[in-house]
Amino acid sequence: KKKIAVMTSGGDSPGMNSAVRAVVRAGIYYGCDVYAVYEGYEGLLKGGDLLKKMEWQDVRGWLSEGGTLIGTARCMEFRERWGRKQAAGNLIREGIDALVVCGGDGSLTGADLFRSEWPSLVKELVEDGTFTEEQVEPYKNLTIVGLVGSIDNDMSGTDSTIGAYSALERICEMVDYIDATAKSHSRAFVVEVMGRHCGWLALMAGIATAADYIFIPERAAPSGEWQKELQRVCQAHREKGRRNNTVIVAEGALDDKLNPITSEQVKDALIELGLDTKITTLGHVQRGGTAVAHDRWLATLQGVDAVKAVLEMTPDTPSPLIGILENKIIRMPLMESVKLTKSVADAIEHKDFDKAISLRDSEFIELYENFIST
Ligand code: F6P
Repeated sequence: KKKIAVMTSGGDSPGMNSAVRAVVRAGIYYGCDVYAVYEGYEGLLKGGDLLKKMEWQDVRGWLSEGGTLIGTARCMEFRERWGRKQAAGNLIREGIDALVVCGGDGSLTGADLFRSEWPSLVKELVEDGTFTEEQVEPYKNLTIVGLVGSIDNDMSGTDSTIGAYSALERICEMVDYIDATAKSHSRAFVVEVMGRHCGWLALMAGIATAADYIFIPERAAPSGEWQKELQRVCQAHREKGRRNNTVIVAEGALDDKLNPITSEQVKDALIELGLDTKITTLGHVQRGGTAVAHDRWLATLQGVDAVKAVLEMTPDTPSPLIGILENKIIRMPLMESVKLTKSVADAIEHKDFDKAISLRDSEFIELYENFIST
């Protein structure tokens, strides 16, 4: 009987519970034993109670729960080889040789490394007497399948990551609230959103709320000049009758010399224009709460496909990442997607912003610049 473990890793995201639920139930449906790894990679390292066999009813009601009910962590020890060796030992002890990981690119890269090291880790576990040759015989290979759970929507090769649309929804709701009070006082608001090095949340929220201006890492603002441009746009909107201004700043926003653009700097520029300006940093409210329908069905379909991928994979199949492209659930080599994602960061680092934009959501950036922030 195939034994599959499912875990969540890195920052939690709405929809992770739907993904775990789908893996548990699809696994049982296909005749497998399914385990949940609690507390992310930490659970793999510690084993014992943190590796729990799941039954059909254990995940009842999970679709509408926020966060991740099996816990998550950013685990430093798993970055070390000794940590991965300990994790391998715990998996073999439970008889598990397939792992479905739902997390961001860091967590998935760690999973792929774990898989490539697996034969040598097992060899070491035999050499140091932890297991006998006979005991490890059935565990020659480890199967890894990746699901992307992140509010940042920063993974290349897939249209949306599990949690991104929920966070976006939350941001838009908050901006609507802020707009109401801003209009009452004729104020300007700088709203800082998450996204790490990716501007997707800021960009899509900018379009969905018609924010006056946005700052995102991919469209680096001209250093020393962006203040004037921001002031011009906000002024123009006021002249057209707008009673408030909303500026959305991605937490990773940069100028073209790669200096961070902070909400404080943006606020100062708006005050210079004579606007009564406040800052709201949305923080973790945008990550918590229940998942929107999009993330629930995305995680469900992808969780089911992850189990199918586990059952279809051979030792030579590159670890797949389950994505979505043009409304179809797809599989692509996980490391190809990680490489593509890294090329965006490299383009930004080399100040090749046109390339960074072309690798991201260029059509949405154009739409925003030409029709909203004019
Ligand atoms: O990757 C998800 C994310 O929420 C990012 O947008 C943000 O930069 C980071 O995690 C915050 O991490 P933490 O919850 O550890 O502060």
